[in-house]
Amino acid sequence: MTLRKIALLGHPVLLEPARPVADPADAEVRALVRDMAETLADARGLGLAAPQVYSGLRVLLALEPGEDEVDRMAEPLVLINPVLTPLGDRRETAFEGCLSIPGLRGLVPRHHSVGLTAIDAEGRPVEREAKGLFARILQHEVDHLDGVLYLDRLTSPRHLAFDSELARLSAHLDEPAVAGRPAADARPRSGS
Ligand code: NI
Repeated sequence: MTLRKIALLGHPVLLEPARPVADPADAEVRALVRDMAETLADARGLGLAAPQVYSGLRVLLALEPGEDEVDRMAEPLVLINPVLTPLGDRRETAFEGCLSIPGLRGLVPRHHSVGLTAIDAEGRPVEREAKGLFARILQHEVDHLDGVLYLDRLTSPRHLAFDSELARLSAHLDEPAVAGRPAADARPRSGS
């Protein structure tokens, strides 16, 4: 069992595009996936991308939320070389956090629905659709693989808050997306 250190905002590893995985069965990739699962669970996050643990591979883990909330016991999906395709024009705006940017939340627009293709940890093809919070988590994590942070996508630099002020900013902006609406990749109670 190995917890990996999570890279924090300012480390260049978060700004570099990751490279595709050639062989999911590679021992290095398997160890990475195993450690990322432990690190994600320990951090109580919704998702984790390999660059956040200083790896330059296109690997991410994401929890799939149920109807209303995240199933905290669920095993995260392992997605290798994921590709997202927006489905339709609908966008939704909600507050997001990031394990690499502890203590802050920002208002970010995302596609409501996306198509996903990837391979899983066993090398099997994944092809499906995602919507709502799950689609948001996937977009957040795939952004990490491209060296993009949610700060790059804020509706405005003014729409950023410390966790302690989030309810105030949310009320000020008339954005309901706070209580009970965790967003990628840090959970509200994670303190990260
Ligand atoms: Ni993140």
